[in-house]
Amino acid sequence: MAHSHIHAVLQRIYAADVPEPADLEAILRLADEDELGLLFGFADVVRREYVGDAVLVRGIIEFSNVCRNTCMYCGLNRHNDQLTRYRLTREEILATAANIWQAGVKTVVLQSGEEDNLDSRWLRQVIEDIRKDFDMAVTLSVGERCREDYELWKQAGADRYLLKIETSDPRLYRELHPGMSFENRMRCLRDLVELGYQTGSGNIVGLKGQTTRSLAGDVRFFKQGNFDMISVSPFIPHPQTALGDEPAADLTMTLKMTALARIVSRNAHIPATTAIGSLRGRDERPKALAAGANVLMPNFTPAPYRRYYEIYPNKRCVSEDPQACPGCLEQMVATMGRRVDYGRGDSLKRAGCAPHTFSN
Ligand code: SAM
Ligand code: FES
Repeated sequence: MAHSHIHAVLQRIYAADVPEPADLEAILRLADEDELGLLFGFADVVRREYVGDAVLVRGIIEFSNVCRNTCMYCGLNRHNDQLTRYRLTREEILATAANIWQAGVKTVVLQSGEEDNLDSRWLRQVIEDIRKDFDMAVTLSVGERCREDYELWKQAGADRYLLKIETSDPRLYRELHPGMSFENRMRCLRDLVELGYQTGSGNIVGLKGQTTRSLAGDVRFFKQGNFDMISVSPFIPHPQTALGDEPAADLTMTLKMTALARIVSRNAHIPATTAIGSLRGRDERPKALAAGANVLMPNFTPAPYRRYYEIYPNKRCVSEDPQACPGCLEQMVATMGRRVDYGRGDSLKRAGCAPHTFSN
């Protein structure tokens, strides 16, 4: 494609209320290095203009790997009986939150599998304790729950919620999540937005059965949802899952989706995901930071447990001391001429932005 034509397509995608599938698919098919450079450069300019050069840091605590769900790509799914299951106590979570606070990080992300037995009042207490002891934002990522639970946790002080749609293609969603419901996932996202959470969604790139058309649909979904945060992860096969023999995602396709997420969302917070850092056995997160991402999410889960939060194998930084993470991340970011921002990093969407709508 002529460079002027690529630029015109990118401009159309950037300016559109909802970009055309044909434009998105044309960009997703780019393969030539120079053409890809145009895409990543465009996303980088949008990133600089709307969120600046700072890279936000969020500290994750993976507090439980117990899961009732059946996601065919995920090592935590309930059929994996080779995994040692754990759940941190309230005291362990608070001690880990203290480590995050001492590292200077002002957002804690509490993530888990989907536990039938997760007591919503227990989690409410954990949120209240964190908010009482530390001046930091609380992000939850504990899956699909009823509206009442989301409301309880919001009232307890939770600020943000991450719930990836994984794929916005309902047919593909059903194939990959036996017994689960696309409609319920959408209901959850709607509830979270209505309750005032800064809401994050996202997808997995490289899933079996996924097409360029369905990836273009994911970008349209990101635009229509006007999400505060968007996470794009490459699929990494886990041997104890139904998709264990499938190939891992293509890094370039993952970077193209990251760039498009930036171009359509403009000021969403977009992580250079740990899965991007784990995909090839070497850390490719700088490439995501150069293609529109502006967030890093170091893992603070205590050592005895973190190797059991195995959503995919060979996850980055499973054996490192979490206290070493900030130094390591600062170095990565500094080599790119950018800087780490240890602030809360709240949503930039709130003031004067169009409300979220879901039309698909
Ligand atoms: N239970 C919560 C939920 O469903 O939102 C959060 C935990 S879930 C394990 C966290 C994320 O891991 C999922 O949203 C999914 O995108 C990602 N994930 C799971 N298996 C994966 C794989 N094999 N490759 C890449 N990402 C994966
Ligand atoms: Fe646990 Fe998908 S297998 S949320």
